[in-house]
Amino acid sequence: MAITCDCPMSQPGPTLAATCGGGAFMLFMGLLEVFLRSQCDLEDPCGRAQYRRHMDSVYDFIVVGGGSAGSVVAARLSEVPEWRVLLLEAGFDEPTGAQVPSMFLNFIGSSIDWGYTTESEPAACLAETDRKCYWPRGKVLGGTSVMNGMMYMRGSRRDYDSWAEAGNEGWSYEEVLPYFLKSEDNKQVEEMDKGYHATGGPLTVSQFPYHPPLSSSIVKAGEELGYRAIDLNGEHHTGFAIAQTTNRNGSRLSVARAFLRPAKHRPNLHIMLNATVTKILINQTNRQAYAVEVRNSFGGTEVIFANNEIVLSAGAVASPQILQLSGIGDPEVLSRAGVKTIHRLPAVGHNLHNHVAHFLNFQVNDNNTAALNWATAMEYLLFRDGLMSGTGISEVTAFINTKYANPAEDNPDIQLFFGGFLADCAKTGMVGERLDNGSRTIQIIPTVLHPKSRGRLEIASANPFDYPKIYANYLTHADDVKTLIEGIKFAIKLSETKALKRYGVKLDKTPVAGCEKIKFGCDAYWECAVRMQTAPENHQAGSCKMGPRGDPTAVVDNLLQVQGVDRLRVADASIMPSVVSGNTNAPAIMIGERAADFIKQRWLGSTLAPFPLGGHGGISNVLQASDTQPQAIWQRWV
Ligand SMILES: Cc1cc2nc3c(=O)[nH]c(=O)nc-3n(C[C@H](O)[C@H](O)[C@H](O)COP(=O)(O)OP(=O)(O)OC[C@H]3O[C@@H](n4cnc5c(N)ncnc54)[C@H](O)[C@@H]3O)c2cc1C
Ligand SMILES: *[C@@H]1O[C@H](CO)[C@@H](O)[C@H](O)[C@H]1NC(C)=O
Ligand SMILES: *[C@@H]1O[C@H](CO)[C@@H](O)[C@H](O)[C@H]1NC(C)=O
Ligand SMILES: *[C@@H]1O[C@H](CO)[C@@H](O)[C@H](O)[C@H]1NC(C)=O
Ligand SMILES: *[C@@H]1O[C@H](CO)[C@@H](O)[C@H](O)[C@H]1NC(C)=O
Ligand SMILES: *[C@@H]1O[C@H](CO)[C@@H](O)[C@H](O)[C@H]1NC(C)=O
Repeated sequence: MAITCDCPMSQPGPTLAATCGGGAFMLFMGLLEVFLRSQCDLEDPCGRAQYRRHMDSVYDFIVVGGGSAGSVVAARLSEVPEWRVLLLEAGFDEPTGAQVPSMFLNFIGSSIDWGYTTESEPAACLAETDRKCYWPRGKVLGGTSVMNGMMYMRGSRRDYDSWAEAGNEGWSYEEVLPYFLKSEDNKQVEEMDKGYHATGGPLTVSQFPYHPPLSSSIVKAGEELGYRAIDLNGEHHTGFAIAQTTNRNGSRLSVARAFLRPAKHRPNLHIMLNATVTKILINQTNRQAYAVEVRNSFGGTEVIFANNEIVLSAGAVASPQILQLSGIGDPEVLSRAGVKTIHRLPAVGHNLHNHVAHFLNFQVNDNNTAALNWATAMEYLLFRDGLMSGTGISEVTAFINTKYANPAEDNPDIQLFFGGFLADCAKTGMVGERLDNGSRTIQIIPTVLHPKSRGRLEIASANPFDYPKIYANYLTHADDVKTLIEGIKFAIKLSETKALKRYGVKLDKTPVAGCEKIKFGCDAYWECAVRMQTAPENHQAGSCKMGPRGDPTAVVDNLLQVQGVDRLRVADASIMPSVVSGNTNAPAIMIGERAADFIKQRWLGSTLAPFPLGGHGGISNVLQASDTQPQAIWQRWV
């Protein structure tokens, strides 16, 4: 039976041909795009929501930013039928091509990427133009989950326990684990550690359908060096794995697809695209956030009121930016930018940090032709299998200890990522990385998990469309460099294992430009290399730090409420006091889940509510069930 549904084919997103660069493959990529789009949406052909062109003027809750965390907040809040929820997203809907796993790098630098660059770095990215590092961030419904590597990684027990120890009550590992499980629908639950996974949630989690043979060889190489292949989201955190990912049947499951599309029939959830929030309005008399100012898709500015709360989920760059634009921040920074201070909160934008890495290139002899050609494309289009259904060896990861980490603590200090084997752009039947003589280049990418360097960001002007000034300050703490060098040594050792020698893996010893004068391979050489060719990971965090009330370095409290302002929360990767040991998508989703529950506790619960119900014409008493146990009240909706 033919599926008939209204597919919004006029997506303004970038096409595959446009993301591949160079004219030579335009025809192939263009045709491929036509085939992909003829399926409208790779997994749920009729699933795209109809987005609203006009907003109402008042909602109960307004969520700013439809990314990894914001999509979850909006979906969970709109489970309460009496609550009217508005989600405002600056970008558009995701392009179909972005759902193809092997294309995962293509959309960096496209129109769905904010494309930030840092200010000139003092000690890193020295080989880049003006010493500026590049920061991709998704500008699209689903946020950065539309352009990420899809790896499903939660971080370690230690990460969350240390947040709780810093005074953030309720954030220990035992307390956050239920929120990971709440989202999860693990398709391989039998193979994973018992007690750490769940089924039935909106977020499908499983390995990709296709693994290049080299993936399992890397895991074997880890075993040679004493690291077991384990469930990295289970009991232990040190080891190697072919990671589980947020894919559903071989296509990317963005957080928008997972959480918002199932909610598309809810009349109480309005989603506005191409709607950029420029300011949050605060009532200075009662110190409550009460409205947002939005640049709508007609180019006009609207003020939309929130009866109950506003949730800022614009990510680690834009959330502090919007706070500052709204007059919440360091008075000095604000006055420099010409913004009137509404609420003094100097910590906004500070504590910005990110994992930092270095790419090591290796030559590999491999006769497995990872090509993007019609056979590969057909295998994908018909069966959702083959090279296009995965991210090549980027599906592999490892958590290891350098000499600076204590293995007994199960708190590794280096994560390894891998790159290569992508069917991304067609090149007369071969992938980009494959050289003509049958060898190809892969990358091993050691990454510092507990960076000590801290950056900050501040608005450059009062114009909300000016990007903020980002000072990443990578590698300004000597320990980050030392740890990274040890990670590099481990990566080289890994390449010398029997399992990888079979592939003739060979370190590319071409000296990094600018480091030719230093003896290749000594510590001073690697220090030079990592400072010249710094590879920022994409795990920006910390710029609206969570901390106890009264902590001058904190922006939000443990319920994610902006300190000193009522009815305003931040929920995204910016609240992490210190970035988790691992990738940040699943943690951002968990943070979204928690924020939604905090809000339900406040507005539906009674005993747990830190503020009285009502006021502001808030929710009616429809939901104030006679049951005084807040748990029982709001669990009806979750
Ligand atoms: C290339 C790359 C690879 C990655 N790989 C992985 C991986 O494999 N696994 C993993 O776990 N993590 C990965 N990450 C990181 C992870 O995806 C992000 O940390 C996570 O998505 C961040 O979630 P967030 O909710 O904090 O912000 P985002 O998802 O970035 O959401 C913020 C949203 O707010 C919107 N917004 C911003 N300003 C405004 C405004 N003024 N008005 C309205 N809307 C606004 C944005 O457009 C965006 O949609 C990767 C990231 C990148 C860039
Ligand atoms: C600000 O709060 C005061 C006190 O609650 C109230 O009287 C006033 O109407 C509010 N102003 C706005 C714009 O909401
Ligand atoms: C998006 O919004 C801008 C104004 O903010 C407008 O100029 C543009 O036409 C809009 N695009 C679409 C496709 O609606
Ligand atoms: C490819 O390499 C593998 C192992 O390296 C070998 O067993 C196989 O015969 C090779 N295949 C071809 C077609 O060369
Ligand atoms: C995956 O997608 C393919 C192609 O549409 C379909 O034939 C197959 O049944 C799907 N598998 C699952 C498990 O949904
Ligand atoms: C293929 O070419 C690359 C780059 O010129 C070289 O480094 C590599 O050793 C060559 N591989 C083989 C198998 O000849």
